[in-house]
Amino acid sequence: MNKKRRKLVAGNWKMNPAALLTAKEVFKRIKKFSGKLKSTDVVICPPFVYVPELAKLSGGNLSVGSQNISGEAAGAYTGEVSAGMVADLGANHTIIGHSERRAMGETDEQVSSKITMALTNGLTPIVCFGELARDDEGTHLEAIAAQLKDSLSSVTKKEAKKIVLAYEPVWAIGRKDNKAMNGKELYEMLLYIRKILLGLYGKEIAFEIPVLYGGSATFENTEDIMREGQVDGMLVGRQSLEPEGFEIMLKIVDSII
Ligand code: PGA
Repeated sequence: MNKKRRKLVAGNWKMNPAALLTAKEVFKRIKKFSGKLKSTDVVICPPFVYVPELAKLSGGNLSVGSQNISGEAAGAYTGEVSAGMVADLGANHTIIGHSERRAMGETDEQVSSKITMALTNGLTPIVCFGELARDDEGTHLEAIAAQLKDSLSSVTKKEAKKIVLAYEPVWAIGRKDNKAMNGKELYEMLLYIRKILLGLYGKEIAFEIPVLYGGSATFENTEDIMREGQVDGMLVGRQSLEPEGFEIMLKIVDSII
């Protein structure tokens, strides 16, 4: 973790909660405690339809992002939402290439176009990548390198400074036992990720790009993930919908220098 950089915790609400009223209530509770954080920014990524209402309630170090955007600027793309529309409604981040979208067929090429769209419209892309499974031969390492290189193929050196990466090992996402990757293993992966970035963008930029961790992060494993894993923050699913645990999590993240 870069000591001078602010930390970022992004909440991915996925297709939750079921009603706008609840979304607003949860968001307001998060706003109460996120305002007390000193060195941590929080971005909540709700379903598209909640973005404008929650953006109106955002402010300070709490902002709103979308969970996806189209790779196209405008036109005949039924059901799609453009980066420009999302930005116009007050969002400033967008998740791109989440594994649940990749599982629906999203390719690295599409991820690459979406990153360009986000940057063109002033949204900070939170670009997700991560292996499906691990094996002793280390094929997951090759898979990660290929996924990262292809997803970032359109990103120039200058643009690379504006992106956020989220390493999310797919086997660790949404686990019933809440078992995240442990901090020591995560740190090894982080070094490997930085090495790939170094090859793509050079040393200075490789260490400047924030890398978040995602996958069953809870208030219970936050300390290990942040301290041992040395990441710049987290992409959080379930825990970001439970204000009590989320508050504890954010306090821990904020306490780590
Ligand atoms: P989880 O989800 O924290 O519920 O595992 C993380 C994610 O899918 O981004």
